[in-house]
Amino acid sequence: MRMTVIGTGYLGAVHAVCMADIGHDVLGVDIDATKIEALGAGTAPFYEPGLQETLTRALGSGRLRFTTSLQEAAEFGEVHFICVGTPQRPDSPAADLRHLDAVVDGLAPHLRRPCLIVGKSTVPAGTTARVAARVTALVPEGTDVEVAWNPEFLREGFAVEDTLRPDRLVAGVSSPRADTVLRTVYAPMLRAGVPYISTDPATAELVKVAANSFLATKISFINAMAEVCDAAGADVATLADALGHDNRIGRRFLSAGLGFGGGCLPKDIRAFMARAGELGVDDSVAFLREVDEINRRQRRRTVDIARDMVGGDFADRRIAVLGATFKPNSDDVRDSPALAVAAAVHREGAAVRLYDPEGIENARSVLPQLEYVHDVAKACEEADLVLHLTEWSEFRRIDPAALAESLSSPRILDARNALDAALWRSAGWTVRALGRPTPAALPNQQAAALTTAVYSS
Ligand code: UDX
Repeated sequence: MRMTVIGTGYLGAVHAVCMADIGHDVLGVDIDATKIEALGAGTAPFYEPGLQETLTRALGSGRLRFTTSLQEAAEFGEVHFICVGTPQRPDSPAADLRHLDAVVDGLAPHLRRPCLIVGKSTVPAGTTARVAARVTALVPEGTDVEVAWNPEFLREGFAVEDTLRPDRLVAGVSSPRADTVLRTVYAPMLRAGVPYISTDPATAELVKVAANSFLATKISFINAMAEVCDAAGADVATLADALGHDNRIGRRFLSAGLGFGGGCLPKDIRAFMARAGELGVDDSVAFLREVDEINRRQRRRTVDIARDMVGGDFADRRIAVLGATFKPNSDDVRDSPALAVAAAVHREGAAVRLYDPEGIENARSVLPQLEYVHDVAKACEEADLVLHLTEWSEFRRIDPAALAESLSSPRILDARNALDAALWRSAGWTVRALGRPTPAALPNQQAAALTTAVYSS
């Protein structure tokens, strides 16, 4: 099919490239001329496993082009995917639909052929209906244009994989014709057996925010349990493993630590609460306020434990930070818990030296006051404390014995519960984590059992 993908940010760039890869003729559109030029020249605009190769292949096939012109897009496409950002509004927790409206206003007056506009951005329930009304008011008379919603569930770090092999497709459509168009777009996925849920637009819009709310709730649940574990001298990692064996619960998204961040989960739950308020059902999602608060608390708790580990005051302390991105395998630092902690520690007077495998440039642009270095050893040199804040696999491969040599008193706070604490302790490190007991605080026998049984697992 001839399709346009409007907005070439995280979602749109990946979608455009993948749609061309499965055989469609794709025109990617963005108002950012620099980005369009780079994409057209074959440069992926951000770090995402598999994206660069897929972009090169798609451009080579001749099925992918880029433009900044919405008029050209209108003339080209049978299907127009809208993939622009819907960030949190600066003045409220609600979603900012400015970019979405700008695309509709720029595209609709140029539409002269029958087409389907498909929103993919995460939006408040009711947006499809609102967009459809706006389109109807703007399209030239006689042009047959329909609007559908097809939310995207891709995870950063797995974006290409999730787009080519999604775990489900959700189509919010108002007519059998729109449904047929979307089934044609995704034909290779349907042939591969991907579940396809065809529903009304409002349900489709809600599936996305409900899914993200559930995931956020699951993370905040285990982080609340981590707080209880700290108070009770229990171990949240073992607790999560034991809970996870129950198929109804499952172990995924049950890793306690610094909590969730990124461009989606935090703003999506806030926008959901705002929309529920408008719909008069704020009580139904009031629990999300607590989910958000538990999540913010993990950042504060991490700073508190870190301060405690350096003797109660950060002034003139040297703090090494491992990790800047909101999660591994991404260079994204939007609402990153790691950066929030690094900034707080710096604000309290510490000298912060940070290393991240992919996020340094993005981190530097939002927090230029920190010192950035290009390897773990340099970051940790002579540090009073090391903070492990994003669980890159590179950090799990650190040799703690070798690293300890450049520190007079090696101390690490593993805020992601991802390091082998027994190994680090045996190399002379003082290790603390969130929701896990410190062996020194326990009677000897119990401590020995913990070290062998729990931390080696
Ligand atoms: C999320 C959704 O997973 C995805 O389906 C949606 O389309 C967009 O939002 P993403 O933002 O890429 O994707 O990140 P995700 O992998 O969900 O992780 C979100 C945050 O939760 C990260 O900061 C991560 O570190 C944290 N997290 C995740 C935990 O703290 N514990 C866990 O057990 C899992």
